[in-house]
Amino acid sequence: MCGIVAAVADSNIVPLLIEGLTRLEYRGYDSAGLALRDDASGGALSRFRSIGRVADLAEQAKNQSATSGIAHTRWATHGIPSERNAHPHMSDGIAVVHNGIIENYVALREMLLAQGYVFSSDTDTEVIVHLIVHLAKTAPDLFTAVAQTCKQLEGIYAIAVIRAADNCVIVSRHGAPLLLGLGDHGNYAASDASALLSVTRKIVYLEEGDVAEISLHGIRLVGAEGALLKIGVDRPIHISTLSAAEVEKGDYAHFMQKEIFEQPEVLAATLEMIGGAQSLSPNIFGATAPDIFADVNSVLILACGTSFHSGLVARYWIEQLAGIPCTVEIASEYRYRVSVPNPRQLVVAISQSGETADTLASIKFAKSLGMEKTLALCNAPESAIVRECALRFLTRAGKEIGVASTKAFTTQLAALFLLAITLGKIGRRISAKDEAEYLNDLRHLPLAVQKVLTLEPAIKIWAQRFADKHHALFLGRGLHYPIALEGALKLKEISYIHAEGYPAGELKHGPLALVDEDMPVISIAPNDALLSKLKSNLEEVASRSGELYVFADADSAITESARVHVLRLPEHYGLLSPVLHVVALQLLSYHIALVKGTDIDKPRNLAKSVTVE
Ligand code: F6R
Repeated sequence: MCGIVAAVADSNIVPLLIEGLTRLEYRGYDSAGLALRDDASGGALSRFRSIGRVADLAEQAKNQSATSGIAHTRWATHGIPSERNAHPHMSDGIAVVHNGIIENYVALREMLLAQGYVFSSDTDTEVIVHLIVHLAKTAPDLFTAVAQTCKQLEGIYAIAVIRAADNCVIVSRHGAPLLLGLGDHGNYAASDASALLSVTRKIVYLEEGDVAEISLHGIRLVGAEGALLKIGVDRPIHISTLSAAEVEKGDYAHFMQKEIFEQPEVLAATLEMIGGAQSLSPNIFGATAPDIFADVNSVLILACGTSFHSGLVARYWIEQLAGIPCTVEIASEYRYRVSVPNPRQLVVAISQSGETADTLASIKFAKSLGMEKTLALCNAPESAIVRECALRFLTRAGKEIGVASTKAFTTQLAALFLLAITLGKIGRRISAKDEAEYLNDLRHLPLAVQKVLTLEPAIKIWAQRFADKHHALFLGRGLHYPIALEGALKLKEISYIHAEGYPAGELKHGPLALVDEDMPVISIAPNDALLSKLKSNLEEVASRSGELYVFADADSAITESARVHVLRLPEHYGLLSPVLHVVALQLLSYHIALVKGTDIDKPRNLAKSVTVE
């Protein structure tokens, strides 16, 4: 979703703004822009905007030089992607970039129109800049005008503001992420640390309602209540451990491919804490986890998209290993429905980014219903969702840049398996012997995934056959039904082929009508208790001239024929089998998208971090 970079430094900041925007491209965007303050001319603002890629903006601004400026990648919410809607928006010598949605923009717009302000875009953002101009007429300084403006905004925002007359940038956030960067030659702000890697690793995460004035020699920071805050005391300084390699593709053609291949490594990192242990401590979820878990009688998982799918797999694990009910809800639905709160329920928010607006709101909503036993399962340590929850487990997938989630998903699965074992142990459902065996299975998981990656050449050959397809059906049963959903989501996201995931037993209740010779049916067929049932479902497809692509285990006893293609995964992996099968499906989607020539890392219309509703 939108990205912000802002800088005030002792030398030209234009290359940094462009590099920062390039680093934020992965978040998804449709236009880009920047506003620069020209010291030489005594502070005039110049603005550049482009509806193309950041590279086009770089071309426009290549001869510019400035020591302060703000920059933005926009993901359209209000108003089509166009130059007039691209940020920064300007009014009377002030420029603003904004990430989020202003919910009361219609009322503010009417008020400002009545005051004579002229609007030149269709965005909600433009009200912010006119309101700042309006309030600056009576406010003692720009900082106060921005703080007063923020008090009138309803909704979600991270903003950066620059004025021709001041050599500083003012930033604030509420609901959308924004952090400060402290450098040796300047000070900065950005949506995430990757944008600032070339100038600093010293990061300060802003809290809800903070307003900061960034200047060359320091940062003035005021909290939501108006108190002056000390950086390093009230807001800790974090040293980002993000490596440059994490945000670069290396030898891979796409970030998605790199991230698929990183899975053995990031699974090992996520599971590092179990070391050689034969037994798990609930403390891996936080110091108060033993007390909280002891009183839990059920689990509610809240998440969106791919993270929702990991929750669906976890439901099978938790009910089987811990013997307590587990429900999984799409966060955007749960937050608006009337549900029956259960204060003894463990509420688990799963999120790669930790900033997904719906997931964050759903956890707040659960808390408002008296459900205080909350656990964040997240890949971003200082994210809003982590801070909102009583307990946390941090996956160690590293930065995920490809919009389609891969390594974040499998590390979530590893973490959820740890949760299921922990709850099973607390509920005395798992013996010490079983626990030790599950931990051994987890330790072996990175190697098992590595073996699945060796299937890439064979999957590549399959992918060729999908080039002219418009639809695909993914089938799974039991634990692998959510993997069918995830396989279908991956395929539609990056190849734009319409795909549906179904529990195979449901086929004859409707989707079988779609099956013909043009409909590839991808089936996950591990050698588990449901295999014989699944085989009957596959027969139903074969007898309607459907073409089957089956991911089976070595011993699944599925016979190949002209219209039944079989790839065998190297190992059968019991309860953890979904982790292996999904890797094969990620590779399939990736190679189909490659054949189709789509923009794999930045699929159309999608954003990496969905910070608006
Ligand atoms: C799909 C994908 C999305 C995200 C969803 C939730 O490949 O990445 O469906 O899973 O937007 O995002 P997080 O996990 O950051 O809350």
